[in-house]
Amino acid sequence: MICVREIDPADLALFDEWYDAFRAGAVAGREAPLVEARSAMAYALRNPGTLKQRIAVGAFEDDRVLGGMLFEYRLTDNLDTVEVEIDVPPEHRRRGIGTALWQWAVTRAAQLGRTIVQTELAVPSDPWPGALFAERLGFVVEHVEEHLVVPLPYDDLLLDDLRSSVGRLEGYRLTSWAGVCPPEHQQAYADLHSAMDLDVPTGGMTREVVPWTVEKLQASEARVDRNYLALVTMAHTASGAPAGYTLIYLPRANTDHAQQDDTLVLRDHRGHNLGTHLKLANLVQLSKHRTTQRYLHTWTALTNSPMRRVNTRFGFRPVEQHRELELRLPTR
Ligand SMILES: CC(C)(COP(=O)(O)OP(=O)(O)OC[C@H]1O[C@@H](n2cnc3c(N)ncnc32)[C@H](O)[C@@H]1OP(=O)(O)O)[C@@H](O)C(=O)NCCC(=O)NCCS
Repeated sequence: MICVREIDPADLALFDEWYDAFRAGAVAGREAPLVEARSAMAYALRNPGTLKQRIAVGAFEDDRVLGGMLFEYRLTDNLDTVEVEIDVPPEHRRRGIGTALWQWAVTRAAQLGRTIVQTELAVPSDPWPGALFAERLGFVVEHVEEHLVVPLPYDDLLLDDLRSSVGRLEGYRLTSWAGVCPPEHQQAYADLHSAMDLDVPTGGMTREVVPWTVEKLQASEARVDRNYLALVTMAHTASGAPAGYTLIYLPRANTDHAQQDDTLVLRDHRGHNLGTHLKLANLVQLSKHRTTQRYLHTWTALTNSPMRRVNTRFGFRPVEQHRELELRLPTR
């Protein structure tokens, strides 16, 4: 009989067994899957933050973990929503394990008074088990991005070509740092994050956007910094006003994967190749700080043609679709 229950992340052996099952389900059949490293996941679960609750849930048969779920919800905003990720290794699929984990999620969401369930799906080909499973549960696809990768170390010739074709940067200066944001840039960096949240396309996903403050930035960076080295390049105008930034995360666990995260150029400063200049400068940082990483990943909305053009110039190629889905639970 399948039995579903919460995992105590402080139980080291059980956490490892849960993580193995969760990861095996998440990576199956994908060319370049990006899954949170064991150490980063363990840290996040064992040291809860004040903004988000994360619960690891396992599906058990005779005390063996056959599948895993991450069940998450924010504590100070987006109070109607929970996020789930359900992963079952291929050898245990089509036995109702995914459904049993889902039923746990529905019950807990109802206990919390939350009515919107969100999930993300990696879809490398069609048909795909996760997509069929989610459709059967009633999820609706609200937003689609391309997940792209470029091999590391970066091709120096490609970067030289880009540097010469993009020309000189006029009217702006770039500042780069590795790690947490230096105090003198924190207010501008927090404001740029707020602008990013407002600007980034998320289709029909329900999302309450909360402005960033310096305090929130410091708290968030302190947590992230334990497991990821942030590489940031920021653009300022000649008079010192912020114009944009780009951010790469290098996992400290020396995995194969690095993540090209946000890139934002504020509306008034678009059309000057600033996005390309920012990325080029940050890739110089990447070449200095990279350890074992073999792939740089990024995600771009299918509707975001300017960023897709920049990605192509930088040698990224698509490996799968990244879909964001939502389901509204019936209210009683
Ligand atoms: C999606 C996933 C969790 C399903 O796990 P599972 O234990 O096989 O799920 P269930 O056995 O409960 O399947 C429930 C229903 O989903 C549908 N389904 C699931 N996999 C399917 C497949 N390969 N082909 C067709 N339908 C499928 C079926 O309707 C199935 O019911 P049925 O077996 O009675 O026909 C698993 O395939 C997986 O881990 N995939 C990778 C991660 C992922 O995409 N997760 C989903 C996002 S949260």
